[in-house]
Amino acid sequence: MTNAVKTPEQIAKMRIAGRLAAEVLEMIGEYVVPGVTTEELDRRCHDYIVNVQQAIPACLGYRGFPKSICTSVNEVICHGIPSEAKVLKKGDIINIDVTVIKDGWYGDTSKMYFVGKPAAHAERLVKVTQECLYKAIEIVRPGTTLGDIGHVIQTHAEKNYYSVVKDFCGHGIGDVFHEDPQVLHYGRPGTGQVLEEGMTFTIEPMINAGKPGSRVLRDEWTAVTVDRRLSAQWEHTMAVTSDGVEILTARKEESF
Ligand code: MF3
Ligand code: CO
Ligand code: CO
Repeated sequence: MTNAVKTPEQIAKMRIAGRLAAEVLEMIGEYVVPGVTTEELDRRCHDYIVNVQQAIPACLGYRGFPKSICTSVNEVICHGIPSEAKVLKKGDIINIDVTVIKDGWYGDTSKMYFVGKPAAHAERLVKVTQECLYKAIEIVRPGTTLGDIGHVIQTHAEKNYYSVVKDFCGHGIGDVFHEDPQVLHYGRPGTGQVLEEGMTFTIEPMINAGKPGSRVLRDEWTAVTVDRRLSAQWEHTMAVTSDGVEILTARKEESF
């Protein structure tokens, strides 16, 4: 089985790591502008995590990943690698995914940013994807199943004529980056593992404007939509409480 159930003391440490990860997303927002490279965004996040937060960027060196954050632009679903060659332009949408380790515990979160003014269709995809995450969070409490969570996300995405990426999922998290359970973003109500107080995991729906298929580029990381249409993603790390959920990576702009 799983070691996803944490003690209050362990959750207190995850609360700190989660807050630091959220603060990186808050810090980087003003730099997401036309003309910036994803390399510069990576460098700013890296330096902030290491020098200001005195924490560790979990992605750097993870299974050979070469950078400190993932930067996934437009048709990139997830795991985009920051590079000097990738210059953001007006109308792009970008997901920045940050995971920090503090005192041995992990916080993992991502959000979407607009580069300049987005097209209406892009703005709508980003909004519906965030709604998918929020609708899932709303039902998290002891007794909810993982299938319930997947179902809420899939229903909202498909009601809006979008598709759920099936090739990547959320995950348990703690003093390990990725642990059981797998948190699928699709499913059937009442199926799968039953949530218990103290479980900690991420929900991180990836929603495509077109077909759900993904393909990994030759860099062995960057996952793109097969049809090259847009994809969006939002992620939080959370803990199940006695009667609901605590979002460990909440940002100031959010109210849970
Ligand atoms: N942060 C991603 C997640 O949500 C994982 C990134 S792994 C990396 O699980 F190696 F690509 F950084
Ligand atoms: Co994650
Ligand atoms: Co992440």
